[in-house]
Amino acid sequence: MTASGTFGFGLEYADFVELNRLGAVVTKATTLRPRIGNPPPRTVETPSGMLNAIGLQNDGVDAFLQHKLPALSVYDVPVIVNIAGTTVDEYATLAGMLDVEGVSGIEINISCPNVEEGIDFCLKPEATERVVSAVRQRTSKCVICKLSPNVSDITVIARAAEAGGADAVSVINTLIGLAVDVERRKPVLANITGGLSGPAIRPVAVRMAWLVSKAVRIPVIGVGGIMNANDALEFLIAGATAVQVGTGSFVSPRASLDVIDGIEAYLQRHGFESVHDIIGSLDTSGKQPEPKAA
Ligand SMILES: Cc1cc2nc3c(=O)[nH]c(=O)nc-3n(C[C@H](O)[C@H](O)[C@H](O)COP(=O)(O)O)c2cc1C
Repeated sequence: MTASGTFGFGLEYADFVELNRLGAVVTKATTLRPRIGNPPPRTVETPSGMLNAIGLQNDGVDAFLQHKLPALSVYDVPVIVNIAGTTVDEYATLAGMLDVEGVSGIEINISCPNVEEGIDFCLKPEATERVVSAVRQRTSKCVICKLSPNVSDITVIARAAEAGGADAVSVINTLIGLAVDVERRKPVLANITGGLSGPAIRPVAVRMAWLVSKAVRIPVIGVGGIMNANDALEFLIAGATAVQVGTGSFVSPRASLDVIDGIEAYLQRHGFESVHDIIGSLDTSGKQPEPKAA
């Protein structure tokens, strides 16, 4: 799959990528009303990655339903709509409006400020469960909850998403970072902080996908720093059932297709019949993590 916010609505890439070959197109976040997003600069390259603070710029759900979805329906690829809101009601309304033909699933971006509680939805298991359950009740589509790594224990939030009725979780969204312009002694981004993505976060993401896959019974979608098939295989072997390519598409628009071809070549080379033969096959025998300090 493509990762939300890095592949537009799929249409922008259609001249370069055979969309029908993808497992799914995951759209940029859609909100109830249009958003202009944050002022520039909104992105900056960092070692082995980038920071972004786009601020959920999008045309709103009405424009998505009127223009983007019909254009996407020409293709034979599942469409998963990433949604964002600031109240449980907003998420539920979005899910209800998107319960239409042409949409295969909803990915809930819970890394958003909860105006009712004054914290991010992703920080409290009760808030996560409430928002997932409200979405679940309003849609017949597949419900994916996208987890944030900016929490002390991601498995607690993953279990809450499962309890709320999620069909899958995607792991992970970006890690919060800060880049400083030392000459001006100012933050590089107008928003001060941004979300770190790219290869820099991959080991963090693989560990979290591994932990979550052991904590829940629903499938885990691995995302974070996948640039090629080898990177994707790390997630699958660690326990993810599917993967998303994000920042990798900025480096090479066809990165997601190269990942598919590379996984197929790996399976053939190793004599595996199906990708299911390697999912969660990480062999940790003979290895022992250091006991945690008291
Ligand atoms: C420019 C940019 C915009 C993003 N927008 C969204 C978004 O709208 N919703 C969301 O859930 N994740 C968003 N993400 C996070 C990605 O989907 C992904 O979780 C993250 O970048 C880690 O994957 P990567 O290292 O492969 O990019 C965005 C990431 C980037 C770089």
